[in-house]
Amino acid sequence: MSIGIIGAGALGSNIARALAKKGIAATISNSRGPASLASLVEELGPSIKAGSVEEAAQAEIVFAAVRWTDAEKVFTALPAWNGRIVVDGTNPVEFLDPNSPDAKDPTNPLAAYGIKAVDLGGKHSSEVFSQFVPGARVVKAFNHLDVNVLPEPKTAGGNRVLFYSGDDADAKAKVRGLIEAMEFFAVDLGALDVGGPLASLPFGALSTHNFIKL
Ligand SMILES: NC(=O)c1ccc[n+]([C@@H]2O[C@H](COP(=O)([O-])OP(=O)(O)OC[C@H]3O[C@@H](n4cnc5c(N)ncnc54)[C@H](OP(=O)(O)O)[C@@H]3O)[C@@H](O)[C@H]2O)c1
Repeated sequence: MSIGIIGAGALGSNIARALAKKGIAATISNSRGPASLASLVEELGPSIKAGSVEEAAQAEIVFAAVRWTDAEKVFTALPAWNGRIVVDGTNPVEFLDPNSPDAKDPTNPLAAYGIKAVDLGGKHSSEVFSQFVPGARVVKAFNHLDVNVLPEPKTAGGNRVLFYSGDDADAKAKVRGLIEAMEFFAVDLGALDVGGPLASLPFGALSTHNFIKL
């Protein structure tokens, strides 16, 4: 099962770290091209290769690890998905410039974290994200934890819980298999419009909680 990662920042690089720990092969990409990822792939070892966004997007399972505000531009520019799986790790938040008026807005409950929620007009984010990748089978996962814990799936005597949701049973089974191969404990939250909102930052009831399966 080939794996691509689009985005090599906090989320993408830590997904790659977690895969590399298990020797699982993947191609990681960013906006600046493979050469800019030389030190990351050297750190991660031979299972992780740097590639172009187009190369990463050809994989059977493609992780979306870009900021929400970049997601539409990045994903709608890619060729047809033809049923391949996209793991939506995004959250619908905008990162704020600390000097902007938004960062000091007293009506923004997330200002202290340097982010604000994006208004999706009542839709949940994976519903909107799915429109950016027509023909893909979207599974929501890897978005609800602080990414720094991803390279340590086993901790405190158990396995960290990773929630996932989606509407395609086969795609979910494949992503579940990958989550388990990474040594997380996979919990199925059901359909995208149920599990998506539950695990999504900022207001999902399960987001940011770090559960351990003992
Ligand atoms: N940070 C967290 O703790 C966390 C936790 C859960 C979920 N998330 C979600 O994960 C997503 C990514 O967040 P992050 O914190 O990883 O952001 P980040 O550190 O800013 O990384 C964003 C990555 O996207 C890449 N990118 C931007 N435009 C691109 C383009 N046109 N083509 C290809 N790549 C492009 C950037 O490339 P360059 O490096 O070349 O600029 C960068 O590698 C967001 O949706 C966020 O909500 C984050």
